[in-house]
Amino acid sequence: MSKQVSLTGIKPTGVPHIGNYFGAIQPALKLAQRYEARYFIADYHALNSMKNPQELRRMIYEVAATWLACGLDPDKVLFYRQSALPETFELSTALMAFTPKGLMNRAHAYKAMVQANTESNRDPDDRVNMGLYTYPVLMAADILLFDADVVPVGKDQVQHLEMTIDIAQSINNHYNRDCFVIPAPLTSEETKTITGLDGRKMSKSYGNTIPMFLPPKQLRKLIMKIITNSQTVEEKKDPDTCNVFTLYRLFADEEKQEELAARYRNGGMGWGDAKQLLFEAMDEMLAPMRDVYQSYIEDTKKLDDILAAGAEKARPIARETVRRIREATGLY
Ligand code: ADP
Ligand code: TRP
Repeated sequence: MSKQVSLTGIKPTGVPHIGNYFGAIQPALKLAQRYEARYFIADYHALNSMKNPQELRRMIYEVAATWLACGLDPDKVLFYRQSALPETFELSTALMAFTPKGLMNRAHAYKAMVQANTESNRDPDDRVNMGLYTYPVLMAADILLFDADVVPVGKDQVQHLEMTIDIAQSINNHYNRDCFVIPAPLTSEETKTITGLDGRKMSKSYGNTIPMFLPPKQLRKLIMKIITNSQTVEEKKDPDTCNVFTLYRLFADEEKQEELAARYRNGGMGWGDAKQLLFEAMDEMLAPMRDVYQSYIEDTKKLDDILAAGAEKARPIARETVRRIREATGLY
């Protein structure tokens, strides 16, 4: 039996941080061991919010280099840019014909924008572009084009997946045939929310991230900024309520975690020491990946070649889906 397909898209809208790594990149790469994986850079989705060409280009390279540095093997995982496959946009147009406007009115990114506008007495559609409004249709096209069985995503994306399923089912029902594979979202309960420098969810929107591949000096400086309480060196401390320790857990083995937990509980350890240990554990794990990342970032031609080769391999699959939909609809 052929393997099921796992597909996901990554928007190049910011420098990847360790929340992205533990919450999205690492789990997706684990899935790639069991599934036929198709992972792409959702650059057209990024265009909705990123209008500076140099910046967008840089982010595409950052995200591509990050996935490769984290272990994505382009010989095993289909790895491409959304914008390299015009079939995405052809399919998207076809899906539009089956997408009720009301469905888009309910999409939460759009609704959040309208609500923010209303609350600040602006026109409800202020700064809402059609890319944002129709975002779920383009996402459905990404997914349906490549026959995805499972789509690993964060919980915030589940609504988009439900819309994809709605649209795909209505087309399959209408033409009474399996034009599309019906995908399922894959959210993992065990994927933890990684906390940022201030103890809230690590997120670009909160400006509390630890980027994955900072040079060691800057990484150390950032770690020293993690917010802790005002306990003195002598005081006994609770590892389980401490940001520094929560992050340490992700990078140190159990023995080391136990060692540091004991130092917390015994007292006599200052926050500076705990942060230094966190830095060392992080650097140990990230350094080898950082070298690979750096080698790609310094050779964007190589990144372009890898992504172009991926698009080349992706195209026959995309063409076949478009052929199916053209045939079903009468657009022969
Ligand atoms: P951000 O919140 O920084 O803008 P994105 O929304 O671009 O991040 O998220 C990209 C992927 O990384 C998503 O799959 C999301 O679930 C995951 N992710 C982002 N931040 C975290 C976090 N703090 N903990 C776990 N996963 C995260
Ligand atoms: N909307 C997703 C996000 O914001 C990115 C994305 C675009 C995506 N197309 C996709 C995810 C297709 C999964 C499948 O994170």
